[in-house]
Amino acid sequence: MKNLKSFINTFILINVISRNVYAKPNIVIIMADDLGFNDVSFHGSSEIPTPNIDALAYNGVILNRFYTPPLCTPSRSSFMTGKYPSKIGMHEFVIPSDEPWGLPLEEKIMPEYFKEAGYKTALIGKWHLGFYKKAYTPTMRGFDSFFGYLGPYIGYYDYTLKMHDRNYSRGYDMRRNLKVNHIKQPKRYATDLFTDEAVNLISKHDTKDPLFLVLSHLAPHAGNEFPDNPLEAPVEEIKKFDYIKDPKRRTLAAMISVMDQGIGRVVTALNDKGIMNETIILFYSDNGGPTEGQHSTAASNHPLRGQKGTAYEGGCRVVACIYSPLIKRPQRVSNDFMYVTDLLKLFTTAASIETDDESLDSVNQWETISEGLKSPRQEILYNIENAVGYSAIMYDGWKLINGSENMNTNTWIGVSGFENVNVSFRSYIKKVFESEAAKSLPKLSAVTIKEMRAAATVTCENSEHSRDVKSTTGLKLFEIINDPCEQHDLVNAYDEKVSFLVALLENHIQNVVPSKRKLMDPNCDPAHFNYTWTWWQEVDESTSNHSYKDTLISIAIAISALFVIFLLIQGTRTKKAFQK
Ligand SMILES: *[C@@H]1O[C@H](CO)[C@@H](O)[C@H](O)[C@H]1NC(C)=O
Ligand SMILES: *[C@@H]1O[C@H](CO)[C@@H](O)[C@H](O)[C@H]1NC(C)=O
Ligand SMILES: *[C@@H]1O[C@H](CO)[C@@H](O)[C@H](O)[C@H]1NC(C)=O
Repeated sequence: MKNLKSFINTFILINVISRNVYAKPNIVIIMADDLGFNDVSFHGSSEIPTPNIDALAYNGVILNRFYTPPLCTPSRSSFMTGKYPSKIGMHEFVIPSDEPWGLPLEEKIMPEYFKEAGYKTALIGKWHLGFYKKAYTPTMRGFDSFFGYLGPYIGYYDYTLKMHDRNYSRGYDMRRNLKVNHIKQPKRYATDLFTDEAVNLISKHDTKDPLFLVLSHLAPHAGNEFPDNPLEAPVEEIKKFDYIKDPKRRTLAAMISVMDQGIGRVVTALNDKGIMNETIILFYSDNGGPTEGQHSTAASNHPLRGQKGTAYEGGCRVVACIYSPLIKRPQRVSNDFMYVTDLLKLFTTAASIETDDESLDSVNQWETISEGLKSPRQEILYNIENAVGYSAIMYDGWKLINGSENMNTNTWIGVSGFENVNVSFRSYIKKVFESEAAKSLPKLSAVTIKEMRAAATVTCENSEHSRDVKSTTGLKLFEIINDPCEQHDLVNAYDEKVSFLVALLENHIQNVVPSKRKLMDPNCDPAHFNYTWTWWQEVDESTSNHSYKDTLISIAIAISALFVIFLLIQGTRTKKAFQK
């Protein structure tokens, strides 16, 4: 009894201490899906204006060398775990909705760290880290709440996914927590729906707990596959971009614009709630934009080479910026190397959460961002993609690519946008000043905007003749600080660099675990589940009905314990009787 009391006292004390220390900023991570490097206006082109995102960027720190694996599932796996995808079997392709695999359950993921530390954790929008068993879904893995879709994408107005290369029925994919969320007609444009949800969640949030919110947008990913309309946006929004001649890119601009306006509303909601001074907002894209090929949106990573799904910079060097009043040296462009795995240590450090797991590939970038200290990261492992057949690594500005895939998308395919639009700098600045986000943020000067925008614009010489696009196999070496557009393959000029990087890469190759990918399972067919996408395999023995099973076990243990006590008492009595 005494022990129990002191245990309870210690427990209360620990709770009181952790409540009293202010070190729990709200974390708001806004992720875009497939946004191109050249598809925001703070990178230099005004073709697609993103004044709200830009206002955040200019007020905070532009993360100008922020890297991810070039594909969704590997990138999101790294974000969630702080580990290289090849170390956890998540490095190959993505998870189509009919394949029975997902982010391994033994991995501790980001919301779990924050939930343990007393945060309210929420995911809005895309998951795409597996759902064939219930145990793999967001609310079973550290998110207190989930509103969104489990698969790779959905239609922007019907929230369904139809795999046109399969015979399954079309399936609805939108839920609140574990339940399918049937939304009545007329359906709201998905980007607005997710923005509404985020604004609502923030305004209703009980500020006695800090908030960890991941707003994982569908935008500007293609909504569905042909013959469905892949690119959807409100007609009146598309009209604003009639200066963009390519109809596909015109719609893309509208899709991005709706997301940008939504981000303005999220910033306003945080400000109205009075919690902006204790909040960190990160905006980034999960990978580069798809200019051509499957799910292409006419995105542009100009002037970077390649696109989504390639190891070139256009696939992996992504749009990223961070804003917080807690940043000590804001209004800067950081050219430090950062990798998506670093977000785990960045946010846990900012929230004073211990992460002493040695298997993490995450380095803390908080002081780099807040104070401008040099980044501890020198190496980027882009990915080791054995299924497609490429791997790439960078150390101190020297990048080695081994093999690669589609020759057509390994070149410079994104538009610059300059030919389409002639917006004066003055009118661009006016847009940023008048954006909804700017009203909740500190006052910016035109000079700051001009300087930061110039510093965040990548420019490359345009020397077609030096471009080596012929080889797609073998080793290639680029010096990406001076040649960010990967125009000059130096593989034959620097033997020592090549052998150093090969050794480094081989070191990582030793740590590659087999891919978790599994063959498709037709039992997933939404026709079996009232035309929804849902978990379709046996309830997971070990995890999914945790509480139910635990209860049964507890009852069994309690009954056994009572029985043992009964036997003991009986035994003592018999003994006593015997002694008498
Ligand atoms: C779809 O069904 C047709 C007709 O039953 C069959 O020939 C085809 O192989 C099926 N396709 C797939 C991808 O299962
Ligand atoms: C943020 O503002 C609120 C309300 O003005 C205040 O109570 C709180 O102490 C502030 N937090 C920080 C970290 O300055
Ligand atoms: C490069 O890729 C080829 C083909 O997959 C492979 O045989 C070779 O070992 C790789 N080289 C390195 C350094 O990883």
